[in-house]
Amino acid sequence: MSTARAFRVLQVRNLPPAAQARLEGIQEIEIVRPRDTSRAAMLDACESVDGVLSLLAEKIDRELLDRAGPTLKVVSTVSVGYDHIDVAECKARNIKIGNTPDVLTDATADLAVGLLIATARRFPEALRAVHEGTWGKWTPTWMCGTQLQNKSVGIVGLGRIGIEIALRLKAFKMGPLRYWGRQNRDGHEQVQAVGAKYCASLPELFATSDILIVACALTPETRHLIDLPLMQATRDHAILLNVARGSIIKQDDLVAALKEGKFQGGVGLDVTDPEPLSPQHELLQFDRVCVLPHIGSAALETREAMANLALDNLMQGLQGRPLTCSV
Ligand code: GLV
Repeated sequence: MSTARAFRVLQVRNLPPAAQARLEGIQEIEIVRPRDTSRAAMLDACESVDGVLSLLAEKIDRELLDRAGPTLKVVSTVSVGYDHIDVAECKARNIKIGNTPDVLTDATADLAVGLLIATARRFPEALRAVHEGTWGKWTPTWMCGTQLQNKSVGIVGLGRIGIEIALRLKAFKMGPLRYWGRQNRDGHEQVQAVGAKYCASLPELFATSDILIVACALTPETRHLIDLPLMQATRDHAILLNVARGSIIKQDDLVAALKEGKFQGGVGLDVTDPEPLSPQHELLQFDRVCVLPHIGSAALETREAMANLALDNLMQGLQGRPLTCSV
């Protein structure tokens, strides 16, 4: 006797193994797979699904929601960020949105610190020298980068991830630590624990920090927040890091700022605009620019935890219950 599956769920790419096995074991779910991972295939496959397991790379916009139709109850993204989802449109259609905060905070903060050290201490150039045979005799100044201790830090967005980055930087004896964001959070226990202080003016933060770290969410307000005038105000030796979303920084302006001699301490990007970035992109021509392919949360344990939380949200949305984490 065949058991009718109650819910049809669109899944474009596999989850990490344990979570994928869990998904495949859920009796009530029929997994709908598009013929390939293209947008066109996704649009064709999404008709009359009840749920979508969403990933950062796939836009959940009005067109997709129209194609899915009125059966769609929940979009559950395996990410903390949800700038790929048209939230207003989902809300207008009563479609719940789930996301995966908290479980990726540590992995992303670890990656930010790793990227900072790699950038400040010139890992990409040093690795190239080893591989390309330009590693010569030890000399006192070859491959010298920037030491982290006692450097002033400006964090753009002191949310969960920003706080964890600040905690780690404190252990590296960095400071003073300051931050800019929508709200002054100086009274918050965790902010007091790291000793970070609010700076109400973003231009002032940029003009007075040795190291600038972008860790805020991408919203209409933060898109292209970091533009040429802001970058021109920085100290020439400053380091700029972005572990949030590529389009918070105006990327063409970043190239212009680099050409003007800014960020001599280096630029570390885990995110770019667009992703993937073409290997021919001008940004990659600068020795001191260290680009990673958006791997902030890419630790297997973290990805399993994200996928599990996304499955919890998915099931809850399908069954009409409140989501563990909703947008
Ligand atoms: C990663 O960038 C995420 O939003 O989870």
